[in-house]
Amino acid sequence: MPRRKVSIIGAGNVGATSAYYIAEKVIADIVMVDVVEGMPQVKALDFLHAGPMRGYDVSIHGANDFSAIADSDVVVITAGVARKPGMDRMDLLKVNADIVKSASRHIADYAPNAMVIVVSNPLDIMCHVAYRTTGFGVRRMAGMAGILDSTRFRYFVAEELNCALSDVHAMVLGGHGDQMVPLPRFTTAAGIPITQLMDRAVIERLVERTRNGGAEIVGYLKTGSAFYAPAASVAEMVEAVITDRKTLAPCAVYLRGEYGIENLFIGVPVLLGKNGVERVIELDLDESEMALMRNSAAAVQKGIDDLDTFFNIH
Ligand code: NAI
Ligand code: 2OP
Repeated sequence: MPRRKVSIIGAGNVGATSAYYIAEKVIADIVMVDVVEGMPQVKALDFLHAGPMRGYDVSIHGANDFSAIADSDVVVITAGVARKPGMDRMDLLKVNADIVKSASRHIADYAPNAMVIVVSNPLDIMCHVAYRTTGFGVRRMAGMAGILDSTRFRYFVAEELNCALSDVHAMVLGGHGDQMVPLPRFTTAAGIPITQLMDRAVIERLVERTRNGGAEIVGYLKTGSAFYAPAASVAEMVEAVITDRKTLAPCAVYLRGEYGIENLFIGVPVLLGKNGVERVIELDLDESEMALMRNSAAAVQKGIDDLDTFFNIH
């Protein structure tokens, strides 16, 4: 059987760290492509130098030419820019939409059978751009955010309970932004819902910290955003598809009526395997949880409408 191939477009902090985590899983050859000359090549070479010690004997290749992604099984889009002083939200949206559009055209040309994992922000809107540009089927496109937001919630809960990180499982749905939807009723420690382990005020504090998880890191870093936990989340998704692991986790996927939401990418629990998004799971949400989902969907829809006004991408 030919070796599996994973390509990462954008070899910056998230892209390169994802490449490293995926290499350590020894599940596929890896290609990193970036527009900065020499940078993906040198990162690939540096990773390869570490290979004999770290035990990954996969091929890792860096390139500036997008043809290097040819015939990939999975392509991850982490290309984008961070917000700079003087840029408003719409400026950022336009710049990253242009970058994701260009990456998506290359994917459609060179890797027409790939599963696409979108990471660039604003996440749910960039999924929409990649979906429209590639023309790929809806089950071959998923955005990474829910796993990251959930792992942050898991950490905060474990820290509060002073219990093992691995005992905690969490579920955070909705868009990857201020309107994300952490679900305490579906968040457990050793199977016990945290609603039975903590009082309401503590849970609300942890929920707020989760919503603010990305901003908390930006507040410290100032010139960039988180990348270790985002890259670990990317590696989980890639592994699920490459090894057909049937991972059940929240990802941004295209909804066609599930949760009462139509034609939007937004975070919901899905089953990820070799066929991409193999199942969308509809949780039995109560009225207040559904209201949060609707609110989150409205924020994503507004971003798409704003973008449409500028690009007419439909
Ligand atoms: P970074 O600035 O370190 O890396 C971005 C890379 O993209 C740079 O190396 C840049 O040269 C490259 N790039 C720009 N235009 C390109 C193009 N047209 N083709 C190929 N490469 C191109 O940024 P970082 O920290 O890696 O973040 C990347 C993106 O991921 C950002 O949009 C960020 O907001 C987003 N992000 C999303 C998360 C999520 O949960 N969905 C979590 C963390 C980051
Ligand atoms: C994060 O949540 C910036 O989306 C990025 O860290």
